[in-house]
Amino acid sequence: MIPMKILGIETTCDETAAAVVTLGDEERGRILSNEVLSQIAEHAAYGGVVPEIAARAHVEVLDRLIARALQRAGTTLPEIDGIAVAAGPGLIGGVLIGLVTAKTLALVARKPLLAVNHLEAHALTPRLTDGLAFPYLLLLASGGHTQLVAVKGVGDYVRLGTTIDDAIGEAFDKVAKLLGLGYPGGPEVERQAQNGNPERFALPRPMLGRRQADFSLSGLKTALRIEAERLEPLASQDVADLCASFQAAVVDVVVDRVRVALRAFAGVAGHPTALVAAGGVAANGAIRRALAAQAGEVGLSFVAPPLPLCGDNGAMIAWAGLERLRLGLVDDLTVPARARWPF
Ligand code: KG4
Ligand code: ZN
Repeated sequence: MIPMKILGIETTCDETAAAVVTLGDEERGRILSNEVLSQIAEHAAYGGVVPEIAARAHVEVLDRLIARALQRAGTTLPEIDGIAVAAGPGLIGGVLIGLVTAKTLALVARKPLLAVNHLEAHALTPRLTDGLAFPYLLLLASGGHTQLVAVKGVGDYVRLGTTIDDAIGEAFDKVAKLLGLGYPGGPEVERQAQNGNPERFALPRPMLGRRQADFSLSGLKTALRIEAERLEPLASQDVADLCASFQAAVVDVVVDRVRVALRAFAGVAGHPTALVAAGGVAANGAIRRALAAQAGEVGLSFVAPPLPLCGDNGAMIAWAGLERLRLGLVDDLTVPARARWPF
């Protein structure tokens, strides 16, 4: 088979991204280009993503970014075999911009349109990077989502657990805001935690021991706020210790919830090929190390994308599009943008 070249477009949140991916050796993807423009600077002053600002920033740069992705990949639009775009879930203004752009390119260049679920793209990333075979257990943790999923095939997912309140990344972001750290919060909290004592504060481990693989994080965040308020004004060591104690609690919760999900996995999908972490939170070193150790204990390998592919990027969208095109799952130009889109 002649390797397909897919253009991927991502505009669902605060990264504008475009990439070209093709099929490489051993069922892996080969990334020919992967351009990402982060809007962190635009949103930092507000301590979070402002949807209107995000949409405007996408519009300003997307055309040029696509042109650059094609150029760096040494290709041109006529040589592309499909246009993949994240059609949701996400901030609707941004999603619309990516989708309208992709539809226009597909129409003008007469290429198949591949409307990709952003979460599905995170979920399939270990196949892009490692050629991982189905089925695998996925912890998908980002700013907006926290799910444990049995990934059985393209479009074949069984959700084993989710959060009943905050997403893990959201909890990191809220804790960072509370402690006066920058945005996005995850990397800041992790950096602070490196110099902190994880045992100084006895924070709760919500849901520990529950039989369903669900998460709850708002109680943990509230407990941390109470500790922080008691200590006001916070010394820098207090901040580090609070971050370390928070991160340690999250790690314990994640490991416990994954243990439950691993048990449930057998009933729905048999034996997993690996334990996988994906989404922005998968960049967290403490979580990665804990999951790697846990996987090792039960004789599973642990797979997590390299750091640049954990956060939002165009390569994962292109890859998910490639997987869909291979199966003939092409969309038509009426496909809608979706703010919400469970997968
Ligand atoms: O997947 P992603 O880039 O965007 C969404 O689709 O949400 O994930 C972003 C989330 C943010 O909440 C961010 O704080 C979190 O991932 N994150 C981290 C780390 N790096 C990013 N959380 C914990 N530790 C990190 N090192
Ligand atoms: Zn994401």
